[in-house]
Order: sequence, then C-alpha cells, then structure tokens
Amino acid sequence: MQTISVDLGHTRYPIHIGSGLLADPAVWSRGIAGDAILIVSSNTIAPLFLDRLKTGLAGRRVSQCILPDGEQHKSLSTAGWVIDALVGNKIHRDGLVIALGGGVVGDVTGFAAACYQRGIAFAQAPTTLLAQVDSSVGGKTGVNHPGGKNLIGAYHQPIAVVADTDTLATLPDRELRAGLAEVIKYGCVWDPIFFDWLALNVGALLARDPEALAYAIARSCEIKAKVVGQDEREQGVRAILNFGHTFGHAIEAATHYKQYLHGEAVALGMIMAAELSQRLSLVDAECSARVRELVAAAGLPVQAPRIGAERALDLMRMDKKVLAGSVRLVLLEKLGRAVVMGNYDQDALLATLKEHVG
Ligand code: NAD
Ligand code: GLY
Repeated sequence: MQTISVDLGHTRYPIHIGSGLLADPAVWSRGIAGDAILIVSSNTIAPLFLDRLKTGLAGRRVSQCILPDGEQHKSLSTAGWVIDALVGNKIHRDGLVIALGGGVVGDVTGFAAACYQRGIAFAQAPTTLLAQVDSSVGGKTGVNHPGGKNLIGAYHQPIAVVADTDTLATLPDRELRAGLAEVIKYGCVWDPIFFDWLALNVGALLARDPEALAYAIARSCEIKAKVVGQDEREQGVRAILNFGHTFGHAIEAATHYKQYLHGEAVALGMIMAAELSQRLSLVDAECSARVRELVAAAGLPVQAPRIGAERALDLMRMDKKVLAGSVRLVLLEKLGRAVVMGNYDQDALLATLKEHVG
C-alpha cells in the first residue's frame, strides 16, 4: 500500500492506494473513526464491492444507502435521500459516511455529508479510475441543477481516501479510458516526466497492468495533493486542473451529457486547449501534436462533434470559470506547465473552435 498525504494546513488526510484495501480492517482502523457508519453506494457498485467494505468495517455499526446509478441522479433529491438515510439510521455528529463508488456517488455523498448537521465526517472509497485520480481528492462535492452541471456544491474534505485498485478489474474499458484523460491532464499541466512516462506506458495502462495503474494513480494523486495543498478553494493554481474542461463542458452540454463521458469530453478539450496554445504561440506544434497523440493512444476521441463554434462559445461562457465576462482558459506554456488566461486573442479562440467544432 502507498499512502499520500493531502496537507491543507487546517487539516490533513491520507490517500491509501493499493490492492485489497476495501476488505482490510487494518486500513479502516487507521484514524478513520466513527462507530456508526453509513455506506452510500449505487445499485451497480454495491453488488460488486459492498460486502468487501463491510468486511473491512467488521465490528462497527454499519448501515447502507443505495442510490440509482448514473449522472442524472447526481441531484438535490438524491442528496436528500442520503440525508434521509442519515436521519433514519440515527447517525450523529460523531458518525461517518463512506462513499463507495465513482465520482457521482462521491460527489453526492460528500455534499450530503457537508450539509448534514452542518458537516459530518466522510471518507471516499473510489471505484473508478477517474474517482481514484481526481474526484475523491480535494473536497469538491456537489450535485447538478437542471440549469447546469455541479452548480450546487460545497467544499468538504474527506477524512481519508481508500483507493482499492482491485475494483478497477470490473470497470468497463470505456470508463477506464475516460479516467486516463484526467491522468493525462496531470502530465500536461504539471509534470513533463510523467507525460513521457504515460506516452511509453499507455499500452500497459490500457491492458490494466497493476503496477502501471498503481503508479499512474499514485503520481496523479501526488500532483493533485500538491496543487490542492497550495490552493484549496481554487483562488489560483488549482484552476490549472481544469485544463480541457471548459471546452469539454461545452461539448458535454451541447450533446446533452449523452454522447460523451466526462473524461472523453475533457480529452477533446485538452486537444483544443493545446492547439489554441499553439495558435497563440505559447507552445510549438510538437507540443500540441504530442497531446493529441497521447489522447489518441489512450483510445480517447480526437474528433470533436460539429456543435458549431458560436454555440460552443455560448456554452463556454456559461461555465463556472467565467470571470467578468471573459472565458478564462487553461493553456499550456510548455508540456508540463499551464497558465490560466483571460486576455488572449479572441480570434484565435474562434479559429480553434471553427476548426474543431465547425
Ligand atoms: P460514475 O460515478 O458515473 O461511474 C461511471 C460508471 O461506472 C457508473 O455506471 C458506475 O456505476 C460504474 N462503476 C463504477 N465503479 C465501477 C467498477 N469498479 N466496476 C464496474 N462499474 C463501475 O463516473 P465517474 O467517471 O467516476 O465520475 C464522474 C463524475 O465525477 C461527474 O459527475 C463529474 O462531475 C465528477 N467529478 C468530480 C470531481 C471533483 O473534484 N469532485 C472531479 C472530476 C469529476
Ligand atoms: N477536478 C478539478 C479539481 O478538483 O479542482
């Protein structure tokens, strides 16, 4: 097992990464207090992993709340069901909520834990690659509103993240690839050596080589921990973790969240952000080509849907990252270094959009 620490000054918590962790009581007894525990999971994930987690929690009073699967259930009403379960199972302020699942379960559960009794402890047991490398770390929790994705939320840090890499064995290939998009993101914005490693090892990752996966998860978590440790509330550097996301969110919204997984849309967005960086002469053609090649090698889409440049721009303006009317974008200064910009040449953005989305 590897352990990475997220140190935020006012609090710190571990991310444990390894095989067999869910069912290991020694892992769950390491500072993860709470005699009364509510496990929140989904009807897809619970049959696969709930028993393992219960083994790890043997001797504690454990109840469960099973949500329907899917992004469409990342809603206020679902968060309400979790709160109903907390009340119904008499979980008090000294209790613990554990999110067992992907980013959807993690975001809803964290949000319910943030609201219930003004905040009770929660732990993350992520079961998708995306959740293990990104959403379970950093304390962003929330739900969607019909008017937009993640519009309702709170910062609420987990007390621990337990990433059992065995859970990835049942993850559909498409979900694995979507998680790889966020892994590639860390190489692009922070660590050129990791980017090179990914380019060499993408085949092993797609083949689910356990060592390669464990390394990619741990390195991603180290980078996320470092960034969040410097800027918990996204006042500055944390925004670089949105590389590709503003373009990606426009693609997701224009296709009604049905055609692309989040990671797939982010992959397309990273290609567009790298290409815009090239158009603005921030990076050379080799850099944007390498981003595109790695995305392609990871089996992710490289051809964006023809949603139209004007429509894309409108949707990008609705993203949360807009400040004072300007679409702030994460661009590359070189492979492994990102910059957040609002004052770039708008014609270059339009040209990039026209080339990619028509
Ligand atoms: P998800 O939670 O919907 O899981 C994807 C699918 O895989 C689901 O059908 C799920 O049931 C299934 N699944 C999960 N684990 C499995 C396993 N081990 N075996 C088989 N099937 C499994 O999607 P996701 O990609 O994990 O998360 C996406 C969500 O995360 C989005 O809502 C996004 O907004 C959010 N997100 C949050 C943050 C954050 O910082 N909080 C960061 C990135 C993304
Ligand atoms: N997924 C981006 C962040 O957590 O800041």
